[in-house]
Amino acid sequence: MYSIQELSDIIDKSLNQLELPQQPERLYQPIKYILSTGGKRIRPVLTLAACNAFSTTIDNAIYPALAVEVFHNFTLIHDDIMDNADMRRNKQTVHVKWDSNVAILSGDAMSIYAYQLLQKVNPSHLPNVLSVFNSFAMGICEGQQMDMDFESKSFVAQEEYIRMIELKTSILLEGALKIGAIIGGASNADVTNIGDFGRNIGIAFQLQDDLLDTYGDVSVFGKKIGGDIVANKKTILTVMALSHAKGQDLELLNSYFKLPNMDPVKKVEGVTDIYNRLNVKQHVEEIIKGYHQKAITHLAKVNIAPEKKSILEELTERLMARKN
Ligand code: IPE
Ligand code: IPE
Ligand code: MG
Ligand code: MG
Ligand code: MG
Repeated sequence: MYSIQELSDIIDKSLNQLELPQQPERLYQPIKYILSTGGKRIRPVLTLAACNAFSTTIDNAIYPALAVEVFHNFTLIHDDIMDNADMRRNKQTVHVKWDSNVAILSGDAMSIYAYQLLQKVNPSHLPNVLSVFNSFAMGICEGQQMDMDFESKSFVAQEEYIRMIELKTSILLEGALKIGAIIGGASNADVTNIGDFGRNIGIAFQLQDDLLDTYGDVSVFGKKIGGDIVANKKTILTVMALSHAKGQDLELLNSYFKLPNMDPVKKVEGVTDIYNRLNVKQHVEEIIKGYHQKAITHLAKVNIAPEKKSILEELTERLMARKN
């Protein structure tokens, strides 16, 4: 079995070895730039770990794992335009460093590049792996559109919100694991179970991301704190606050969503105060624990020796404690 460190090293080394053309510079430089900013690279590690849970060799999973990470980075470039975010991984976002047109087109090229990497998989696995890849690629678009539609809604129910994050975020963690399991030779039932594990981890992962967006430490998180509040995002914090707030707090919260051109610093302070009064952070931490537990029960159903699950369990623990 490979350790998490060994799997991360394989991913880092393989990403560093990717060769992209030089010209046109404004197409390929942004791709090289975002890949050079790193990130946790959790998804490709999940692909390799899932493959390794079923097979001693993981070589066939490396290109598909890179495809998953390249695709993820493409979604981040476009997400930062949509969310008007100027910082990621403690660096300027692509549309700020260059411009939006550059970010759109290099993002497009990156998505195609992800498919080129995926195409290198063993042909016997291509149909199944491609089908998983396509379904998360389309699902992410659906989730991202819902996320933007919610910005102008004054109320979003918890179930609607969970559906949205399943699409924009969890489906990719689920898919990363399924692709690894397929390549490792897992049975259909195990592919489903490991995918269900990933979907629940993915939900917990996005809930944490929402929490860190308000309560994180900017230098560790690497993104601007309060960005979701400024953009009127309906995060789990807003959903919780809307379902708990009464009277003046509810009026105040609604007024923050409606006031145009409000000073962003004051808005973040004001909304965070409401969250604090309603103990939103504690409520969200409870929900995260619930999805963590659910994930573990799905992992328990995967039909492999306990020691083969240990890396996936360890990865889960690390993710649950993450601050970035
Ligand atoms: C950011 O994903 C987008 C979300 C789904 C929250 P990560 O938190 O995995 O970002 P990086 O790749 O580590 O920077
Ligand atoms: C990320 O959601 C989902 C995708 C990028 C598809 P967020 O908008 O919350 O991600 P961050 O916080 O910008 O990384
Ligand atoms: Mg964003
Ligand atoms: Mg977003
Ligand atoms: Mg976020």
